[in-house]
Amino acid sequence: MLHDPNRVYVFDTTLRDGEQVPGCQLTTPEKIDIARELEILGVDIIEAGFPVSSPGDFMSVVEISKAVKEPTVCALTRANRMDIDVAVESLKYAKHPRIHTGIGSSDMHIKHKFNSTREEILERAVEAVKYAKKSVEDIEFYAEDAGRADVVYLAQMIEAVIAAGATVVNIPDTNGYCLPDQYGAKIKYLKENVKNIDKAIISVHCHNDLGLATANSIAGLQNGARQIEGTINGIGERAGNTAIEEVVMILKTHATLGLHTNINSRNFYEMSRMISSQMRMPVQPNKAIVGGNAFAHSSGIHQDGFLKNRENYEIIRPEDVGFPSASIVLTARSGRHALKYHLERLGHKLDKDELYDAYKRFLTLADVKLDINDDDLQQLMAFKLVKN
Ligand code: KIV
Ligand code: ZN
Repeated sequence: MLHDPNRVYVFDTTLRDGEQVPGCQLTTPEKIDIARELEILGVDIIEAGFPVSSPGDFMSVVEISKAVKEPTVCALTRANRMDIDVAVESLKYAKHPRIHTGIGSSDMHIKHKFNSTREEILERAVEAVKYAKKSVEDIEFYAEDAGRADVVYLAQMIEAVIAAGATVVNIPDTNGYCLPDQYGAKIKYLKENVKNIDKAIISVHCHNDLGLATANSIAGLQNGARQIEGTINGIGERAGNTAIEEVVMILKTHATLGLHTNINSRNFYEMSRMISSQMRMPVQPNKAIVGGNAFAHSSGIHQDGFLKNRENYEIIRPEDVGFPSASIVLTARSGRHALKYHLERLGHKLDKDELYDAYKRFLTLADVKLDINDDDLQQLMAFKLVKN
């Protein structure tokens, strides 16, 4: 089934889990534009929507299925026939269709969401997979709230749905509850104890309630998962989903993990800006990989080290994620080297004394003006010429 055991498949759910966020709703044409960009980015699977939820979501899955060629197009369902029928219909133009069906797996969900029993839920899970399999070959099963599920029961459920035809088994940490070692151990247990696990790909789908979504996803991959689910900018329910750009860049930066994806990481910055503006969701400046300050150096010590050798303070090259360039920000915390660098960039070559003098005037200005731009520097130098 898997040709390359080290290949990690990237499943993007920006248009489904991401779009559930209040205020982030998109029109079908907007979703088509995003899906085309996701195809260029190189994602393997696009979760295009939850077709039974609304006519708009249904149409979006239909139109995205027509618009993209390479990625698998996936539609979400609950474990019931009506949801599955509607999803099958919505995927009829997809070159590579996938149904994503599933049900709760934790006792919390079984008792307090479904008012049911483990046995009954297991039956419903198997029935849903078998039913979906009659229409679509590629079936992904999600065991909702797997992060809090009893691992022995979870293993039983996963074995049964693979036997029923699931090609991918998704182990969501729906509530972002797990610690990385707990989540990793859960994936390892499934890998070692589910007899037919080699017939399916294990997928990780982590939420960020405790800020651990990326760490948990990596722990899952280290323990045998080979599909990662997430969104661009980490948008999603509550505190969001795993940020795809973070996982991909972790795998690239830590080549010793031996895992790789098909993602063109140089498109991340563009993609991030597109999602942010279309979904009206600003990216926090300190967001890893794509935040406005992700490659901005502002303290004197860092700037000095960066100017001596950028690798002193740069583990990812900005151009590798499509970021315009690294920046040396001038503030009252900046040092002489940073000022010299910018003045030379603007054509001012200063000797030691001139630089000393310019730096004193710079600090006076920087104490009142929070960040100093090129115009301020030109004025600083013009002031010096007038004075002389
Ligand atoms: O978080 C979750 O459990 C989900 C499932 C529907 C896959 O989004
Ligand atoms: Zn989710």
